[in-house]
Formats: sequence, structure tokens, C-alpha cells
Amino acid sequence: MDDLIARDAAALWHPATHFDDLAVCPPIAIAGALGPWLHTVGGERILDAIASWWTSPHGHRHPAVVEAIHRQVDVLDHVMFAGFTHRPAVELAEGLLAASHGAFARVFFADSGSDAIEVALKLSLQFHQQSGAPSRRRIAALAHGYHGETLGALAACGSSLYRAPFADLLHGALFLPTPALPRHRHDDLGTAAGADTPECDAAIALLTAHADTLAALVVEPLVQCAGQMRMNGSGFLARLVSHARSLGVIVIADEIAVGLGRTGKMFAHEWSGIGVDAMCLGKGLSGGALPLSAVLLSAQFEPAFRGAVTQAFAHSHTFCGNPIATAAGVASLAVLTERLGTTIDGSIAALDAARAAVDTACPAVEASRQTGSIVAFDLRPHSRQPSDGRIGLALRAAALSRGVLLRPLGDTLYWMPPLVLPDEAIALMVDATIGAIDEVLG
Ligand SMILES: Cc1ncc(COP(=O)(O)O)c(C=O)c1O
Repeated sequence: MDDLIARDAAALWHPATHFDDLAVCPPIAIAGALGPWLHTVGGERILDAIASWWTSPHGHRHPAVVEAIHRQVDVLDHVMFAGFTHRPAVELAEGLLAASHGAFARVFFADSGSDAIEVALKLSLQFHQQSGAPSRRRIAALAHGYHGETLGALAACGSSLYRAPFADLLHGALFLPTPALPRHRHDDLGTAAGADTPECDAAIALLTAHADTLAALVVEPLVQCAGQMRMNGSGFLARLVSHARSLGVIVIADEIAVGLGRTGKMFAHEWSGIGVDAMCLGKGLSGGALPLSAVLLSAQFEPAFRGAVTQAFAHSHTFCGNPIATAAGVASLAVLTERLGTTIDGSIAALDAARAAVDTACPAVEASRQTGSIVAFDLRPHSRQPSDGRIGLALRAAALSRGVLLRPLGDTLYWMPPLVLPDEAIALMVDATIGAIDEVLG
């Protein structure tokens, strides 16, 4: 067999991977994928319990998405999006605006989550400059938040882990404290959970104190995914966002990970009953098949970008609005719309039962929580732990040996699978999780 792993080791540099860790978890050569399953070159089947970095809402190669890509590639592969337009981009924009029930008026396409965040931040700054509030130049963000790794987005990440090596290049964001609800349940959504916490009080006070200098507040609604799946409560979001907007601060919902059905509603912030000014989508937007992101913008932005030619918004990535990616997006949105409120709700209930089963079976689980189809377990050593203290890495290897892809964030193990899973996959995910936790932590 052609030794892809040796050729990979000689030629490639993988993201989010320390070279030494390749000895414990070498890359796995994948030959194909279907639904929630990855198929290795060696003929094994792996359950993709994290939807390949949270991208794959309907599983891999959903027939409607694949068909839309085939149809589109036969007609138009790409055309620059300045000065041209095409049907899939128009249809996807219309579909997203309709799904927002009129909360947003325009869609700006981008090509990665980070790129969408850059667009939303830059638009907010330029908006204030061109609307008579040039002193509003600072971005507020949440501690423990994650918004991507280009320099502008990175500066808004609330973990110094990501920021530290580049600190002197980053704009100085104002970080607000965030509550953690380690035992959050899906049924807590829509309640005032998180609103009456000291962190919420402190965040409100900081916003008030700095309001005159703030252009925008960027938040991941409900779940700070890369922040160890920290769940803050829909009440926290409602109070924070209403307060920011009352101070004239633009609120950007980063729904790149939590939007598009992931929490059981089309958009996560809907659970808090509030509106936002801009919303970033990415990851699953194309059905998880191609790079694509979007920023949805309320009607208030546009007037500030009319007037002098120099007031236009200058941001253009080469492949933004790509026809194949947006065609996949149109197909994926149709599948999602049909599944919301029906099969997705059933899957969320099944994941709750699965969470409880792991909780009961594993003494090493300190706390478990759920929002939609995101389930997380905080772990502590029970009767043993790995000698190097790298619990996450050891769990990843132990789960893979049981046929399931898990990629814990530090000591937090989580599931974020395709939105609808067959029973067989849920059963395997539970067994492999219990087995891996038992093997590594006792
Ligand atoms: C909430 C959130 N925002 C932004 C990003 C960045 O997206 P991308 O990796 O596509 O640039 C991510 C990626 O994980 C994310 O989870």
C-alpha cells in the first residue's frame, strides 16, 4: 500500500498539532466518508463524533449537498464576486435572510470563520467612523471566547493561550467576565439562567464604564465552544446583549460554531429572545463540504457606507461568494429547515439520555452539560491518570482505538456530532466514551 503516512510525515505541517504528539496520535489516512462515518485507507470505520471540527451538520456527503455541488460545477465553477453575481449566491442570501425573519437586511459572503469575524469587526469600526462617532474604536469580547486566528479575530479571543505569541501585534480588546454553568441542561435554554451571576454584573459594569470607546461587542451565544464548551446561559446573553445595544455598541453574534441548528433553533441567539446587529456563520454553512462563511447585517449599517467613494467597505477575499460553495449552502439550508423542530429535536433528546448514561457510568466525570447537540464532560482523575498529565491526548487515542473520533479540549471531553445520528452511532459513542474514560482515568 502506498505509504501515505510516511509521505505525510515528510511533507506536511498539520494545524493544531505538536510534532511530538504525532508519535501518540499519527494522522489517519482517510479514503472516504458517508453520514457520520469516516472510512480509513486501511478499511476501518470511525464515527465522526465531532463533525470534523463542527462542520458537518447532516453528516458527510449528504446526497442533496453532493448533488448541488455536481450540478453547479458543471455550469459555473467560479467568478469574482466584485462586479458579478450568480444564482446560488443570491438564493443562499435570500434563504438566510428569510430564516432570520427580517432581523437582517444584507449578507456579506466570506470564506472562513475568521474571515467573517474580520468583516464584522472592520464593518463595525468603519460604521462608527462614518457615523460621527470616531472615538468608538475598541472591541469588547468575552473571556474564554474564541473567534478565529487571523490577527483581528485572534485579538478578540479571550484565552491568552492563542494570543500570547502575537501579543504585540493585536488590538487591545476589552475582555468581559463570563459565567460558567457546568451542569447546564438543554431545558435551561430560554430561561434567565446566567443573568443573576457576579460575572454578568461585572460584565455589565465594564460595558457601561467603557461604552464611549466601544465599537462592537463580539460574543459566541450560549456556548464558548473552543473555551472548553463553557455554557453561559440564555439569561446571561439576553442581559448582556440588551445592555450593550442600549449603549450604542454594535453586537456581533459569532454563530460560526453554534448557528444553523446546532442548539435546536436555526440561530442560537434566538433562545435569548434578543436581536443582534450582525451575525457570523461558517463551518456548516456549506453543509460542511466547502469553505464558506457569511456575515448577516441589520439595515442600520448601509447608510454609513454610502456617500463618498472612499466610504465603501474595502474587504475582498478572492473566493468569497464562490458558486459551488454557495450552491452547497442552498441545498444544506433546505435540509436543515426540514429537520429543525422534528428529527433534530429527537436527536437532542437522545443525546441527553446518552449524556446521563456516561455521567452515571463514570466516576471520573465531575460535571456534564448540554446545549442542543453539544454535550460536554469535565473530567478529573479517578483511580489513575496519564503520567504526562495530558488527559485529552490519552482520551483521544483511547477513543480512536474504539472506533470513535473525539478530540477533548484539555480535561473536557465533548460530543458535537452531525445534528441527526442513527441509534447505532449514539450507542457506539456512549460505549467508546465510557471505555476511554475508564481506561485513562478509572
Ligand atoms: C466560534 C468560532 N468563531 C470563529 C472560528 C474560526 O473559524 P475558521 O476556523 O473557519 O476560521 C471558530 C473555529 O473554530 C469558532 O469556533
